[in-house]
Amino acid sequence: APANGTSSSRDHQALDVLMEGLRRLEYRGYDSAGVAVVADGGIAMRKKSGKLANLIAELAENPMPDSLTGIGHTRWATHGGPTDLNAHPHVVDGGQLAVIHNGIIENYAPLKADLLKQGYSFVSETDTEVAAVLLGSIYRKLTTTAGAALGSKGADSALTQAMALTARQLEGAFTLLAIHGEQPGVVVAARRNSPLVVGLGDGENFLGSDVSGFIDYTRRAVELGQDQVVTITGDSVDITDFFGAPAQGKEYVVDWDASAAEKDGYPSFMEKEINDQPDAVAATLLGRSDLEGKLTLDEMRIDPQVLKTINKIIVLACGTSAYAGQVAKYAIEHWCRIPTEVELSHEFRYRDPIVDENTLIVSISQSGETMDTLMAVRYAREQGAKTISICNTNGSTIPRESDAVLYTHAGPEIAVASTKAFLAQITATYLLGLYLAQLRGNLFQGQIKDILADLAKTPAKIAQVLANAAQIKDLALSMANTRTVLFLGRHVGYPVALEGALKLKELAYIHAEGFAAGELKHGPIALIEEGQPVFVVVPSPRGRDSLHAKVVSNIQEVRARGAMTIVIAEEGDESVREHAEHVFYIPETTTLLAPLLTTVPLQIFACALATAKGYDVDQPRNLAKSVTVE
Ligand code: G6P
Repeated sequence: APANGTSSSRDHQALDVLMEGLRRLEYRGYDSAGVAVVADGGIAMRKKSGKLANLIAELAENPMPDSLTGIGHTRWATHGGPTDLNAHPHVVDGGQLAVIHNGIIENYAPLKADLLKQGYSFVSETDTEVAAVLLGSIYRKLTTTAGAALGSKGADSALTQAMALTARQLEGAFTLLAIHGEQPGVVVAARRNSPLVVGLGDGENFLGSDVSGFIDYTRRAVELGQDQVVTITGDSVDITDFFGAPAQGKEYVVDWDASAAEKDGYPSFMEKEINDQPDAVAATLLGRSDLEGKLTLDEMRIDPQVLKTINKIIVLACGTSAYAGQVAKYAIEHWCRIPTEVELSHEFRYRDPIVDENTLIVSISQSGETMDTLMAVRYAREQGAKTISICNTNGSTIPRESDAVLYTHAGPEIAVASTKAFLAQITATYLLGLYLAQLRGNLFQGQIKDILADLAKTPAKIAQVLANAAQIKDLALSMANTRTVLFLGRHVGYPVALEGALKLKELAYIHAEGFAAGELKHGPIALIEEGQPVFVVVPSPRGRDSLHAKVVSNIQEVRARGAMTIVIAEEGDESVREHAEHVFYIPETTTLLAPLLTTVPLQIFACALATAKGYDVDQPRNLAKSVTVE
């Protein structure tokens, strides 16, 4: 769940800034939302379970007083269900202190037991309230034992000092933000493992889980390090470590404009982002090779000599990003002849994996904040591995903690289910594969140039697929009552089938499974009964060996058992027509580049079917965009 805070000496009302920020950040979590501001020597707070709309309604009924300082939060529930009481902010210290939190405080149980013993009480089931009460108790001790304990800055810095002392007692992952009725104009935050960025305004400053929280007000941002406390006022930003020693953040300018985070006339972010895909792929390719096809990946901070000696690649990712990794395996092994494993980040470090200084870790994460992936990358680095991050979010934690970065330039992805980031990730992993092949001499320069030329033609081909969206949307409408759908593919078509099934689960809440087409006969074919819809991703008939023929046989096998077959095939492939109820053609391309095209109809299908069922495609139930807990 994201956090958002602002303090101003100008006339921007805190509530306006917070609500706009929460609207932009809501994709990160939407079980409940709340805001608090400093007003009249105390705190005014409103919070509501459910989406932001519920909070907006509450504010209309119970307006907030004017204020220039406040915090806001939208939640993805971990400890304690999504109720009004469990929503953030949590207000403690006799109604004077408001706290919001992103992450999980692992040692909240002993801390809570201790605070209960001291006579404090709790109204929610959250770990956050424990941090809030702890912070409040420390703040009170500091301010009542008076000036001496507070050092030179006196009572003004009490909240900052209390925050540092609190953070030192907490274990786990957290971004905490606090405001206090006695300290108007001040927002204090602490971070460990969870994201937090500072926005530098003119006479006003901001804090956000990501820059979209304050992009309307400033492009100047400061990246914070691990275990830091930051105190903002309208005209100051002070950063320290958890022991009060001054620290520096890294300033940067946000390069995407706010309109990229708007729907541009599309009914949903998801539809917009599906339609953004030609640009997402083109932007990811841009400026990374010269006319001879010589690749220069300037974000590589690993000695090329080291990359020449690696003998194994492990791709780490979750969700859709992991499917991009599965696609990448085919290309990287084919081009570079380096054994490549793909592993879900959360499984990786718990199985005693074989990792050493000759292992190259390639993490893939749209957000750059997925805690499972971050922890897996850290573990691999500890074992001596070199780490490359493929990431869509500038300045996020995973790229910051990796030896090298290859950014995907898909632009901000807001819809929870990933689409354009997926195609950009595949594109980036292909660039990485070609780079390694170039470096290690596995491919001739001419071959690389040809592959790059094919890649460069892909955006226009994706646009062609998008132009034929109506056909797949009609099919989706006719299938609104479908209860189960299967997806089959071979080779790179296999992860595409898995992604097609995931999209349908995420968006339309329909049971869907992806299978390697060859595996069907070993069990799943028992699922096929009369009318069962089965999508089949068919490789190019011009492609390698008998792959195409094998998949066509697999279509016949399911059809013979009553399946309703929906086939994605290459333009001109007439052989599939007689075996399919529906055929969607994609433009000609090479076997390895096909996923950049075959995925698109499956995304459109899931989006259209979910829309037909009346679901919110941007914010599917139970999910969050960046999952910053393990
Ligand atoms: C969440 C999202 C998925 C996403 C996955 C990985 O579960 O709901 O859409 O694929 O995280 O996210 P990442 O940001 O690491 O790519």
